[in-house]
Amino acid sequence: MKKRIVILPGDGIGKEVTTEGKKVLDKIAEIFGHEFEYDEATIGHDAIEATGNPLPDESLTKMKKADAILFGAVGHPKYDNDPSLKVRPEQGLLKMRKELGLYANLRPIKLFDELLEASSIKPEILKGSDILFFRELTGDVYFGEKGRKDDGNTAYDLMIYQRYEIERIAHKAFQAARTRKKKVTSVDKANVLESSRLWRAVVQEIGTQYPDVTLEHTFIDTAAMKLIQNPKSFDVVLTGNLFGDILTDEASQIAGSMGMLASASVGYTIGLYEPIHGSAHDITGKGIANPLASILSVALMLDISFGLKAEAEAVITAVEHTLKQGWRTADIADAKTAKDKILNTQHMGTKIVEQLSGQSLNPTALNTASSIASNFIS
Ligand code: IPM
Ligand code: MG
Repeated sequence: MKKRIVILPGDGIGKEVTTEGKKVLDKIAEIFGHEFEYDEATIGHDAIEATGNPLPDESLTKMKKADAILFGAVGHPKYDNDPSLKVRPEQGLLKMRKELGLYANLRPIKLFDELLEASSIKPEILKGSDILFFRELTGDVYFGEKGRKDDGNTAYDLMIYQRYEIERIAHKAFQAARTRKKKVTSVDKANVLESSRLWRAVVQEIGTQYPDVTLEHTFIDTAAMKLIQNPKSFDVVLTGNLFGDILTDEASQIAGSMGMLASASVGYTIGLYEPIHGSAHDITGKGIANPLASILSVALMLDISFGLKAEAEAVITAVEHTLKQGWRTADIADAKTAKDKILNTQHMGTKIVEQLSGQSLNPTALNTASSIASNFIS
Protein backbone atom coordinates (compact mmCIF):
# COMPACT_ATOMS: atom_id res chain seq x y z
CA MET A 1 0.00 0.00 0.00
CA LYS A 2 1.26 3.46 -0.91
CA LYS A 3 0.23 6.41 1.29
CA ARG A 4 1.15 10.06 1.70
CA ILE A 5 1.42 11.22 5.29
CA VAL A 6 1.89 14.83 6.35
CA ILE A 7 3.69 15.26 9.66
CA LEU A 8 2.95 18.43 11.63
CA PRO A 9 5.27 18.35 14.63
CA GLY A 10 4.06 21.74 15.93
CA ASP A 11 5.37 23.09 19.21
CA GLY A 12 7.10 21.88 22.36
CA ILE A 13 7.36 18.11 22.73
CA GLY A 14 5.34 17.74 19.51
CA LYS A 15 8.58 17.40 17.56
CA GLU A 16 10.04 14.84 19.94
CA VAL A 17 7.03 12.54 19.99
CA THR A 18 6.17 12.67 16.27
CA THR A 19 9.77 11.68 15.48
CA GLU A 20 9.10 8.43 17.37
CA GLY A 21 5.71 8.01 15.71
CA LYS A 22 7.38 8.24 12.32
CA LYS A 23 9.99 5.70 13.36
CA VAL A 24 7.18 3.25 14.05
CA LEU A 25 5.50 4.01 10.72
CA ASP A 26 8.79 3.31 8.95
CA LYS A 27 9.15 -0.03 10.69
CA ILE A 28 5.57 -1.01 9.85
CA ALA A 29 6.20 -0.11 6.20
CA GLU A 30 9.34 -2.27 6.19
CA ILE A 31 7.73 -5.29 7.87
CA PHE A 32 4.45 -5.29 5.98
CA GLY A 33 5.77 -4.06 2.64
CA HIS A 34 4.07 -0.66 2.44
CA GLU A 35 5.36 2.61 1.09
CA PHE A 36 4.77 5.68 3.22
CA GLU A 37 5.77 8.99 1.71
CA TYR A 38 6.17 11.89 4.12
CA ASP A 39 5.91 15.61 3.92
CA GLU A 40 6.34 18.05 6.80
CA ALA A 41 4.31 21.19 7.45
CA THR A 42 4.32 23.95 10.06
CA ILE A 43 1.65 24.97 12.56
CA GLY A 44 1.43 26.85 15.85
CA HIS A 45 4.05 29.05 17.47
CA ASP A 46 6.81 28.10 15.03
CA ALA A 47 4.56 28.97 12.11
CA ILE A 48 3.68 32.33 13.68
CA GLU A 49 7.37 33.13 14.14
CA ALA A 50 8.15 32.20 10.54
CA THR A 51 5.12 33.61 8.72
CA GLY A 52 2.91 35.47 11.19
CA ASN A 53 0.20 32.86 10.60
CA PRO A 54 -0.48 29.89 12.95
CA LEU A 55 -1.62 27.80 9.97
CA PRO A 56 0.01 28.95 6.72
CA ASP A 57 -1.88 28.18 3.50
CA GLU A 58 1.04 26.07 2.36
CA SER A 59 0.49 23.70 5.32
CA LEU A 60 -3.20 23.41 4.57
CA THR A 61 -2.54 22.70 0.89
CA LYS A 62 -0.13 19.91 1.79
CA MET A 63 -2.63 18.37 4.18
CA LYS A 64 -5.46 18.45 1.67
CA LYS A 65 -3.35 16.36 -0.70
CA ALA A 66 -2.37 13.79 1.93
CA ASP A 67 -3.97 10.48 2.95
CA ALA A 68 -3.47 11.12 6.67
CA ILE A 69 -1.90 13.58 9.09
CA LEU A 70 0.28 12.90 12.11
CA PHE A 71 0.15 15.88 14.41
CA GLY A 72 2.19 16.67 17.53
CA ALA A 73 0.94 19.61 19.63
CA VAL A 74 0.59 23.38 19.61
CA GLY A 75 1.01 25.97 22.33
CA HIS A 76 3.62 28.21 23.94
CA PRO A 77 3.83 29.78 27.41
CA LYS A 78 4.38 33.19 25.83
CA TYR A 79 0.73 33.23 24.74
CA ASP A 80 -0.66 31.58 27.86
CA ASN A 81 0.80 34.35 29.98
CA ASP A 82 -0.31 37.21 27.75
CA PRO A 83 -4.05 37.23 27.00
CA SER A 84 -3.68 40.42 24.93
CA LEU A 85 -1.94 38.63 22.04
CA LYS A 86 -4.34 38.36 19.11
CA VAL A 87 -2.56 35.72 17.05
CA ARG A 88 -2.20 32.45 18.96
CA PRO A 89 -0.86 28.95 18.18
CA GLU A 90 -4.16 27.26 19.08
CA GLN A 91 -5.92 29.17 16.29
CA GLY A 92 -3.90 27.06 13.86
CA LEU A 93 -5.27 23.86 15.36
CA LEU A 94 -8.87 25.08 15.36
CA LYS A 95 -8.62 26.32 11.77
CA MET A 96 -7.13 23.01 10.68
CA ARG A 97 -10.00 21.08 12.29
CA LYS A 98 -12.58 23.34 10.66
CA GLU A 99 -10.99 23.51 7.19
CA LEU A 100 -10.50 19.76 7.00
CA GLY A 101 -14.02 19.02 8.29
CA LEU A 102 -12.68 16.98 11.20
CA TYR A 103 -15.88 17.04 13.24
CA ALA A 104 -15.47 13.85 15.23
CA ASN A 105 -12.68 13.45 17.72
CA LEU A 106 -12.32 9.87 18.92
CA ARG A 107 -10.49 9.50 22.19
CA PRO A 108 -10.18 5.91 23.39
CA ILE A 109 -9.50 5.56 27.10
CA LYS A 110 -8.16 2.13 27.67
CA LEU A 111 -5.91 1.14 30.50
CA PHE A 112 -3.03 -1.20 29.85
CA ASP A 113 -3.09 -3.58 32.85
CA GLU A 114 0.60 -2.94 33.40
CA LEU A 115 -0.17 0.68 34.28
CA LEU A 116 -2.79 0.00 36.94
CA GLU A 117 -0.47 1.42 39.58
CA ALA A 118 0.50 4.51 37.58
CA SER A 119 -2.86 6.21 38.08
CA SER A 120 -3.85 8.04 41.22
CA ILE A 121 -7.18 6.16 41.12
CA LYS A 122 -7.50 2.84 42.99
CA PRO A 123 -6.66 -0.19 40.78
CA GLU A 124 -9.90 -2.04 41.64
CA ILE A 125 -11.93 0.94 40.39
CA LEU A 126 -9.89 1.19 37.21
CA LYS A 127 -9.32 -2.39 36.10
CA GLY A 128 -11.29 -3.22 32.98
CA SER A 129 -12.14 0.39 32.08
CA ASP A 130 -12.62 0.87 28.36
CA ILE A 131 -14.26 4.09 27.21
CA LEU A 132 -14.50 5.59 23.77
CA PHE A 133 -15.17 9.33 23.65
CA PHE A 134 -16.77 10.96 20.65
CA ARG A 135 -16.05 14.63 21.13
CA GLU A 136 -17.64 17.01 18.63
CA LEU A 137 -14.79 19.11 17.27
CA THR A 138 -15.92 21.89 14.93
CA GLY A 139 -18.79 23.57 16.76
CA ASP A 140 -19.78 24.86 20.20
CA VAL A 141 -18.28 27.76 22.09
CA TYR A 142 -14.98 27.13 20.26
CA PHE A 143 -16.39 28.47 17.01
CA GLY A 144 -19.34 30.64 18.11
CA GLU A 145 -19.23 34.40 17.88
CA LYS A 146 -16.89 35.91 20.45
CA GLY A 147 -15.82 39.37 21.42
CA ARG A 148 -15.70 42.24 23.86
CA LYS A 149 -18.24 44.97 24.40
CA ASP A 150 -17.05 48.54 23.80
CA ASP A 151 -16.16 49.15 27.43
CA GLY A 152 -13.67 46.27 27.19
CA ASN A 153 -14.93 44.86 30.47
CA THR A 154 -17.56 42.52 29.08
CA ALA A 155 -16.60 39.47 27.02
CA TYR A 156 -18.65 36.72 25.43
CA ASP A 157 -18.30 33.41 23.59
CA LEU A 158 -21.44 32.07 22.01
CA MET A 159 -22.21 28.42 22.70
CA ILE A 160 -23.96 27.36 19.53
CA TYR A 161 -24.95 24.06 17.92
CA GLN A 162 -26.85 23.30 14.77
CA ARG A 163 -28.95 20.18 14.30
CA TYR A 164 -26.78 18.71 11.52
CA GLU A 165 -23.66 19.03 13.64
CA ILE A 166 -25.24 17.00 16.42
CA GLU A 167 -26.76 14.45 14.05
CA ARG A 168 -23.58 13.51 12.24
CA ILE A 169 -21.51 12.89 15.36
CA ALA A 170 -24.39 11.12 17.11
CA HIS A 171 -24.58 8.65 14.20
CA LYS A 172 -20.86 7.95 14.51
CA ALA A 173 -21.16 7.34 18.26
CA PHE A 174 -24.12 4.98 17.89
CA GLN A 175 -22.41 3.06 15.09
CA ALA A 176 -19.30 2.63 17.21
CA ALA A 177 -21.38 1.51 20.20
CA ARG A 178 -22.81 -1.27 18.03
CA THR A 179 -19.33 -2.77 17.74
CA ARG A 180 -18.77 -2.47 21.50
CA LYS A 181 -20.96 -2.82 24.61
CA LYS A 182 -23.91 -1.09 22.91
CA LYS A 183 -24.23 1.83 25.26
CA VAL A 184 -24.03 5.56 24.55
CA THR A 185 -23.83 8.14 27.32
CA SER A 186 -24.60 11.58 25.95
CA VAL A 187 -23.26 14.47 28.02
CA ASP A 188 -24.89 17.90 28.19
CA LYS A 189 -26.13 20.60 30.53
CA ALA A 190 -29.74 20.54 29.41
CA ASN A 191 -30.97 21.72 32.81
CA VAL A 192 -29.41 25.12 32.06
CA LEU A 193 -28.33 25.54 28.43
CA GLU A 194 -30.57 25.87 25.38
CA SER A 195 -27.87 24.46 23.09
CA SER A 196 -27.81 21.40 25.36
CA ARG A 197 -31.58 21.01 25.09
CA LEU A 198 -31.26 20.88 21.30
CA TRP A 199 -28.33 18.47 21.74
CA ARG A 200 -30.42 16.16 23.93
CA ALA A 201 -33.47 16.25 21.66
CA VAL A 202 -31.45 15.46 18.54
CA VAL A 203 -29.49 12.66 20.22
CA GLN A 204 -32.79 11.16 21.43
CA GLU A 205 -34.16 11.25 17.88
CA ILE A 206 -31.07 9.66 16.36
CA GLY A 207 -31.12 7.08 19.14
CA THR A 208 -34.46 5.73 17.92
CA GLN A 209 -32.64 4.56 14.77
CA TYR A 210 -30.39 2.40 16.95
CA PRO A 211 -32.87 0.48 19.15
CA ASP A 212 -30.19 -2.11 19.97
CA VAL A 213 -28.04 0.57 21.66
CA THR A 214 -28.88 1.79 25.17
CA LEU A 215 -28.87 5.57 25.37
CA GLU A 216 -28.48 7.50 28.59
CA HIS A 217 -28.18 11.25 29.14
CA THR A 218 -25.93 12.69 31.83
CA PHE A 219 -25.26 16.25 32.87
CA ILE A 220 -21.64 17.30 32.49
CA ASP A 221 -21.14 17.79 36.23
CA THR A 222 -22.50 14.33 37.02
CA ALA A 223 -20.44 12.79 34.22
CA ALA A 224 -17.27 14.34 35.67
CA MET A 225 -18.06 12.75 39.02
CA LYS A 226 -19.06 9.32 37.69
CA LEU A 227 -15.97 9.06 35.55
CA ILE A 228 -13.84 8.83 38.67
CA GLN A 229 -16.38 7.03 40.81
CA ASN A 230 -17.10 4.19 38.39
CA PRO A 231 -15.29 4.45 35.04
CA LYS A 232 -16.37 0.93 34.10
CA SER A 233 -19.99 2.10 33.81
CA PHE A 234 -19.14 3.94 30.56
CA ASP A 235 -18.85 2.54 27.05
CA VAL A 236 -19.24 5.22 24.34
CA VAL A 237 -19.44 8.80 25.60
CA LEU A 238 -20.83 11.45 23.26
CA THR A 239 -20.03 15.08 24.04
CA GLY A 240 -19.93 18.56 22.61
CA ASN A 241 -16.61 20.27 22.00
CA LEU A 242 -16.02 22.02 25.32
CA PHE A 243 -17.39 19.31 27.59
CA GLY A 244 -15.37 16.70 25.69
CA ASP A 245 -12.19 18.72 26.03
CA ILE A 246 -12.57 18.84 29.78
CA LEU A 247 -13.81 15.29 30.35
CA THR A 248 -11.09 13.65 28.27
CA ASP A 249 -8.31 15.30 30.25
CA GLU A 250 -9.99 13.98 33.36
CA ALA A 251 -10.41 10.56 31.78
CA SER A 252 -6.71 10.45 30.88
CA GLN A 253 -6.08 9.60 34.53
CA ILE A 254 -7.97 6.37 33.94
CA ALA A 255 -5.29 5.42 31.43
CA GLY A 256 -2.49 6.22 33.87
CA SER A 257 -1.11 9.30 32.16
CA MET A 258 -1.91 11.84 29.47
CA GLY A 259 1.22 10.50 27.81
CA MET A 260 -0.65 7.32 26.87
CA LEU A 261 -3.67 8.78 25.13
CA ALA A 262 -4.01 8.84 21.38
CA SER A 263 -6.78 10.43 19.40
CA ALA A 264 -8.21 10.42 15.92
CA SER A 265 -10.05 13.30 14.32
CA VAL A 266 -12.19 12.27 11.41
CA GLY A 267 -14.93 13.67 9.26
CA TYR A 268 -15.55 13.24 5.58
CA THR A 269 -12.24 12.29 4.01
CA ILE A 270 -8.90 12.80 5.68
CA GLY A 271 -8.01 11.71 9.23
CA LEU A 272 -5.73 13.48 11.67
CA TYR A 273 -3.99 11.60 14.47
CA GLU A 274 -2.56 13.19 17.58
CA PRO A 275 -1.83 12.65 21.25
CA ILE A 276 -4.33 14.35 23.53
CA HIS A 277 -1.49 15.88 25.54
CA GLY A 278 -0.27 19.37 24.74
CA SER A 279 3.08 20.93 23.95
CA ALA A 280 4.37 20.51 27.54
CA HIS A 281 6.99 23.25 27.49
CA ASP A 282 8.06 22.38 31.01
CA ILE A 283 9.70 19.21 29.70
CA THR A 284 10.50 20.26 26.11
CA GLY A 285 14.06 19.53 25.05
CA LYS A 286 14.72 17.25 28.01
CA GLY A 287 14.06 14.12 25.97
CA ILE A 288 11.77 12.65 28.63
CA ALA A 289 8.37 13.01 26.94
CA ASN A 290 6.36 9.82 26.58
CA PRO A 291 6.08 9.02 22.85
CA LEU A 292 3.49 6.27 23.35
CA ALA A 293 0.50 8.54 22.72
CA SER A 294 1.99 9.49 19.36
CA ILE A 295 2.84 5.86 18.62
CA LEU A 296 -0.70 4.76 19.54
CA SER A 297 -1.98 7.56 17.31
CA VAL A 298 -0.06 5.87 14.51
CA ALA A 299 -1.99 2.67 15.32
CA LEU A 300 -5.25 4.59 14.96
CA MET A 301 -4.08 6.01 11.63
CA LEU A 302 -3.21 2.57 10.29
CA ASP A 303 -6.58 1.22 11.34
CA ILE A 304 -8.99 4.07 10.61
CA SER A 305 -7.46 5.86 7.62
CA PHE A 306 -5.72 2.95 5.90
CA GLY A 307 -7.83 -0.03 7.06
CA LEU A 308 -4.62 -1.83 8.06
CA LYS A 309 -5.95 -3.76 11.06
CA ALA A 310 -3.07 -6.23 11.47
CA GLU A 311 -0.55 -3.42 11.33
CA ALA A 312 -2.49 -1.43 13.95
CA GLU A 313 -2.70 -4.47 16.18
CA ALA A 314 1.02 -5.03 15.77
CA VAL A 315 1.75 -1.54 17.10
CA ILE A 316 -0.59 -1.93 20.06
CA THR A 317 0.87 -5.35 20.86
CA ALA A 318 4.37 -3.91 20.72
CA VAL A 319 3.37 -1.24 23.24
CA GLU A 320 1.74 -3.84 25.47
CA HIS A 321 4.78 -6.14 25.42
CA THR A 322 7.17 -3.28 26.07
CA LEU A 323 5.14 -2.29 29.13
CA LYS A 324 4.96 -5.95 30.23
CA GLN A 325 8.74 -6.10 30.15
CA GLY A 326 8.74 -3.25 32.62
CA TRP A 327 9.95 -0.44 30.36
CA ARG A 328 8.54 2.96 31.27
CA THR A 329 8.96 6.64 30.57
CA ALA A 330 9.15 8.84 33.66
CA ASP A 331 5.46 9.83 33.58
CA ILE A 332 4.25 6.23 33.83
CA ALA A 333 6.87 4.96 36.26
CA ASP A 334 5.78 4.21 39.81
CA ALA A 335 7.58 3.77 43.12
CA LYS A 336 8.44 0.17 42.21
CA THR A 337 10.04 0.99 38.84
CA ALA A 338 13.79 0.42 38.83
CA LYS A 339 15.80 3.42 37.64
CA ASP A 340 17.34 1.47 34.75
CA LYS A 341 13.85 0.65 33.42
CA ILE A 342 13.02 4.32 32.82
CA LEU A 343 13.62 5.24 29.19
CA ASN A 344 13.92 8.57 27.46
CA THR A 345 11.71 9.48 24.50
CA GLN A 346 14.03 8.13 21.83
CA HIS A 347 14.79 4.86 23.60
CA MET A 348 11.11 4.16 24.18
CA GLY A 349 10.54 4.62 20.43
CA THR A 350 13.41 2.26 19.71
CA LYS A 351 12.02 -0.36 22.12
CA ILE A 352 8.70 -0.35 20.28
CA VAL A 353 10.50 -0.72 16.95
CA GLU A 354 12.51 -3.66 18.34
CA GLN A 355 9.32 -5.28 19.59
CA LEU A 356 7.82 -4.92 16.14
CA SER A 357 10.82 -6.65 14.58
CA GLY A 358 10.48 -9.51 17.07
CA GLN A 359 6.76 -9.88 16.39
CA SER A 360 7.23 -10.20 12.66
CA LEU A 361 9.00 -13.48 13.33
CA ASN A 362 6.11 -14.62 15.48
CA PRO A 363 2.84 -13.72 13.77
CA THR A 364 0.70 -15.48 16.42
CA ALA A 365 1.64 -12.68 18.78
CA LEU A 366 -0.69 -10.50 16.75
CA ASN A 367 -3.71 -12.48 17.89
CA THR A 368 -3.09 -11.70 21.52
CA ALA A 369 -3.24 -7.95 21.07
CA SER A 370 -5.67 -6.17 23.30
CA SER A 371 -7.34 -4.06 20.72
CA ILE A 372 -7.92 -0.38 21.01
CA ALA A 373 -8.08 0.21 17.33
CA SER A 374 -10.37 -2.53 16.14
CA ASN A 375 -13.29 -0.95 17.93
CA PHE A 376 -13.45 1.95 15.54
CA ILE A 377 -15.54 2.64 12.58
CA SER A 378 -13.92 3.96 9.44
C1 IPM B 1 -7.23 19.45 22.86
C2 IPM B 1 -6.59 20.75 23.25
C3 IPM B 1 -7.08 21.86 22.32
C4 IPM B 1 -8.58 21.96 22.49
C5 IPM B 1 -6.38 23.20 22.54
C6 IPM B 1 -4.89 23.10 22.38
C7 IPM B 1 -6.95 24.28 21.65
O1 IPM B 1 -6.83 21.03 24.58
O2 IPM B 1 -7.08 19.04 21.69
O3 IPM B 1 -7.87 18.84 23.71
O4 IPM B 1 -9.07 22.65 23.39
O5 IPM B 1 -9.30 21.36 21.69
MG1 MG C 1 -7.76 19.47 25.66
